[in-house]
Amino acid sequence: MNKPLVIKINVEDVVPVLLIEAVNTLKNGGLVVFPTETVYGLGALISRKDAVKKIYLVKGRPIDNPLIVHVDTIDMFLELTLDPPEEIIELAKKFWPGPLTIIWWKKPGKVPDIVTADLPKVAIRSPAHPVALELIRLSGEAIAAPSANRSGKPSPTTADHVLDDLDGLVDVVIDSGETLYGVESTVIDFTVKPPRLLRPGAMPIEKIEKVIQKKIEIPYYARGLGEAGQAESPGMKYKHYAPNAKLVIVETSNYHQKLDYLVKKARELLEKGLRKYKRVAIICSSETCSKYHDLDVEILDIGSRKNLFIVARNLFKTLRKLDDLNIEYAVVEGFEEKGLGLTIMNRLRKASGHNIIIV
Ligand code: TXA
Ligand code: MG
Repeated sequence: MNKPLVIKINVEDVVPVLLIEAVNTLKNGGLVVFPTETVYGLGALISRKDAVKKIYLVKGRPIDNPLIVHVDTIDMFLELTLDPPEEIIELAKKFWPGPLTIIWWKKPGKVPDIVTADLPKVAIRSPAHPVALELIRLSGEAIAAPSANRSGKPSPTTADHVLDDLDGLVDVVIDSGETLYGVESTVIDFTVKPPRLLRPGAMPIEKIEKVIQKKIEIPYYARGLGEAGQAESPGMKYKHYAPNAKLVIVETSNYHQKLDYLVKKARELLEKGLRKYKRVAIICSSETCSKYHDLDVEILDIGSRKNLFIVARNLFKTLRKLDDLNIEYAVVEGFEEKGLGLTIMNRLRKASGHNIIIV
């Protein structure tokens, strides 16, 4: 395929006419990369089964890993699903558009099986990004879109990341600059009781629990501790977010009291790493990065422990930076598993292939 058409659109000023080419491409069964508030998505209209099939091919995505369907309104969600309960409608009203993906039963004949990998359930969200919403509205149909990266790589938070992975494989790329959250949506399966977190994301689960007034089950794989089997959660069994470098995550049970121990352990690992590898890096918090200056390692500050929104936002671009810097071995400081911390640790643990050291 030729180079994609790149359309630059300012988030502040989304003129529908700029999207005509993208909409036509979707209607003709093409693939359009578009920005959302989380990460860039690789989109096809759900009715275009040929195009949806191309998504799997282009990403190198296993065919048994279902896609998220993006809608612009709750009405469109209701069109595709089988009588969701009041609780779900309430969540959709409260958090959409936004980074919450709801899994519910499909209405027969409305969502092609290739979109949901033959499952009777569908994952749906409404993205809080004017370009994404306008694209769906103008297409008049829901858009199936996984993150626009090659399978196994960190999700793209800029159009350049997309082009690094998928140049020549897609028809249109809409570039609206860096995405807001930088991590994907929170995915919750509401067909089971209690609701089950399949993937922590940009929406902290504590906020959702507050609305539904019950606890959400957090399985071990949602914490990034091991991979789920196909029956438990499709798609969660695959290696994710992996840079080329070997990663090790240093964690502690108490980030307030034991941060010094954590740094000490990270330094030990770096010193050991330097004996074996030429290009070594530490990914550290703003609070602790100064503790590594005497070592011959790249220092990547991922943000302050007091602002996990920024840490999450920097996460994937920092993992991609490791590749840009040709790093062979990197030590990563862990973060407290609360709020967005759960999301950050899920991604880091998976990125490391569960290579974790606890102090
Ligand atoms: O923020 C996001 O969610 C981004 C943007 C583009 O919206 N999308 C995204 O899609 O991250 P993807 O395909 O990379 O991740 C979707 C996750 C996968 O892990 C998949 O296994 C799960 O959601 N999923 C999708 N449909 C499902 C279903 N019917 N049942 C269980 N899990 C499902
Ligand atoms: Mg993905």
